[in-house]
Amino acid sequence: MGKSYTIGLIPGDGTGPEVVREGVKVLDALCRDHGFGLEFQPFDLGGEKYLQDGALLDSAVLDQLQKTDAIFLGAIGHPRVRPGILETEILLKLRFELDLYINLRPVRLYPGVKTPLQDKGPQDIDFVVVRENSEGMYAGGGGFFKKGRPDEVAIQESITTRKGVERCIRYAFDYCRSREKTGRLTLCAKTNVLVYESDLWERVFHEVHQEYPDVAINYQHVDALCMWMIKNPEQFDVIVTSNLFGDIITDIGAIIQGGLGIAAGGNINPEGLAMFEPIGGSAPKYAGKNCINPLAAICAAQMMLSFLGEHAAASSLEKAVQKTIQQDLDTLEAGRMGHTTSEVGDLVVSHLGG
Ligand code: IPM
Ligand code: MN
Repeated sequence: MGKSYTIGLIPGDGTGPEVVREGVKVLDALCRDHGFGLEFQPFDLGGEKYLQDGALLDSAVLDQLQKTDAIFLGAIGHPRVRPGILETEILLKLRFELDLYINLRPVRLYPGVKTPLQDKGPQDIDFVVVRENSEGMYAGGGGFFKKGRPDEVAIQESITTRKGVERCIRYAFDYCRSREKTGRLTLCAKTNVLVYESDLWERVFHEVHQEYPDVAINYQHVDALCMWMIKNPEQFDVIVTSNLFGDIITDIGAIIQGGLGIAAGGNINPEGLAMFEPIGGSAPKYAGKNCINPLAAICAAQMMLSFLGEHAAASSLEKAVQKTIQQDLDTLEAGRMGHTTSEVGDLVVSHLGG
């Protein structure tokens, strides 16, 4: 018998519970085939729970999550909760309190998946965004002055620390080295305007590069990079960037890799815990209909297996996802896959190890 891991499970809102259920189904099958153990510990968090009893993320829950080996999250978001509450008090709080300082978002077009980019195929769209996940515009600095009055002022501050930038850049160089591709790391910033923040990123980028002479480097302003992601995505291998820029460019990444049905990400503390999620959100209009695509959650589960060091299981799962797409699904869109949510989970299981 191999190792055993405790997985914190946060199914959350909307379609979250349906896709997490399929992720768990696939993970259970992999445990049997690969001889490791997973014990799932569920946590009731999200908009539904908040509307019931006002509970968000308290320190007791954080302590329990802290003891797990990894967290598997469905989605947090509720149409009846004002925007900002659940994001700040649950999702961002998890990232900050657990110091999940890397947001890792692979952008990979699998064969058989449609991309909106004309004339681009799987060989062209295969890169990874390393998004700083613990500071920048998300740190929440700022405030109002004379709020609600005609002369009111809003200040939103971005916080950038050398420590935060350096650990993120170092992770990106290591990650770049571990990939088989060209081995090129692109820094995405805005040195022509953000003359303090981007300057710090650029200086640290060059300093850390000294330790990785085998990795080629490149720089692009964020606006130009958005254009190049669409025009020539094949030039990218690994992109490293700050929190808000990473948020924005990974939505472009998600759509060029086939959309929210497939896009997954990891919120990672490389020295500690990590949380994996489909990046599509709670999709309330599809909730409870057994028609949402669970592949993004299943891909998040695959990233979690890699993080845990279960590489054989992760690779078997990746192949099974590709087979499911190529052999079984009409499209990746909710309601139009030709199969229900639970059938897609079953199909992935049927392709494992085969
Ligand atoms: C994401 C999301 C979050 C973010 C929101 C929901 C706070 O868009 O994970 O990319 O902005 O980071
Ligand atoms: Mn986002």
